[in-house]
Amino acid sequence: MPVFDHLAQLPDDPILGLVALYANDTRASKMDLGVGIYKDPQGRTPVLKSVKAAEAWLLENESSKAYVSTAGVPGFENAIVPIALGASAASLVGERYAAIQTPGGTGGLRLMAEFLTRTAVKTVLVGVPTWPIHQPIFERVGLNVSTCAHLREDGTFNLEALLAGISELNTGDAVLLHACCHNPTGIDPTREQWHAILDAVKAKGVLPLFDMAYQGFGDGLDEDAWSLRLFCDALPEVLASVSCSKNFGIYRERTGALLISSDSTKTLAAVRSQVIDSARSLWSMPPSHGGQIVTHILGDGALKASWLAELNEMCERINSLRNGLCDALKAIDAFEPFQSLAVQKGMFSSLGMTPEYVLRIRETSGVYLVGSGRINVSGLSADRLDELAAALKAGLV
Ligand code: LMR
Repeated sequence: MPVFDHLAQLPDDPILGLVALYANDTRASKMDLGVGIYKDPQGRTPVLKSVKAAEAWLLENESSKAYVSTAGVPGFENAIVPIALGASAASLVGERYAAIQTPGGTGGLRLMAEFLTRTAVKTVLVGVPTWPIHQPIFERVGLNVSTCAHLREDGTFNLEALLAGISELNTGDAVLLHACCHNPTGIDPTREQWHAILDAVKAKGVLPLFDMAYQGFGDGLDEDAWSLRLFCDALPEVLASVSCSKNFGIYRERTGALLISSDSTKTLAAVRSQVIDSARSLWSMPPSHGGQIVTHILGDGALKASWLAELNEMCERINSLRNGLCDALKAIDAFEPFQSLAVQKGMFSSLGMTPEYVLRIRETSGVYLVGSGRINVSGLSADRLDELAAALKAGLV
């Protein structure tokens, strides 16, 4: 008896589906502001020079393709912890912090969810809108997801909704937080608001889960991890998924980590072993190429400096494009409906428009945005900002 008969064909993924739609659009004037991939001024996503150098080194020096380990390539854990948690964390690997290499940040989140099924966590609170894959990742392992509004109507961060959501959780539940560069809105809490969130998390006794996919694209590599460090310093337990996809530009190499922070060395070792056990039945071990690239770059002073310069260049280009778009909108008297752009950070900005608006500007102007108007700011081109501003304005009517 066929067992697949009842399965319906699903629509395309809301983000990845746009890639195909864009590719099939024959208009020369089209603009791809969809999937979260950094684009240079020529609209390309080149391999970083530091990554190329690490790959050249690997080609010469990699002597085996034997299995690595479920925890990842040797040295990766010691290399990634101080990037996410600061230089002072380097000496605390194995005592206070651990990191398991994962297939990208999505793998980090999936492993986090899988591990949570071994704990007392029943519900994960998620601010919406969020990356559309967050909710299914937790729901598919049987966890409940509760939601609260990430933004107020005026486009500012909705602290009250998050605090109310946390107060409605049961002690021992969890809350998912974007460490920086919120996807899709580009609106992060201020430092003062992060302190209020920390107080609420402490008071209720809930587990904070961080997603840090865009470290280095907001205020800088160290500054962007400030919220994560605040929570790790103040709380007994924190989990975080970190991604190397964007800041190393190694998207397809699927490289990330699940970070574990615990104030008990014994608990840290126990959790690390449980997480490894979960990973073993999910993917056995992560792909090694990206992990080796990251480990090699971070272990070589000159290469690390060159990577940091390249990351900084990407971040500065995004900031200057966002400012340029604000200026272009101001010049045609259309800034007011889009004024949140001025305070948004990271690869994304959200226009907070309707799906109908997004469809309209795609059809009339060939501008491709995600969901309710998420822009991949790096997809803008400096000499087409006026054109984009005009298309955004025209879509309003
Ligand atoms: C995005 O949000 O565009 C990226 O994280 C890519 C993805 O996997 O959705």
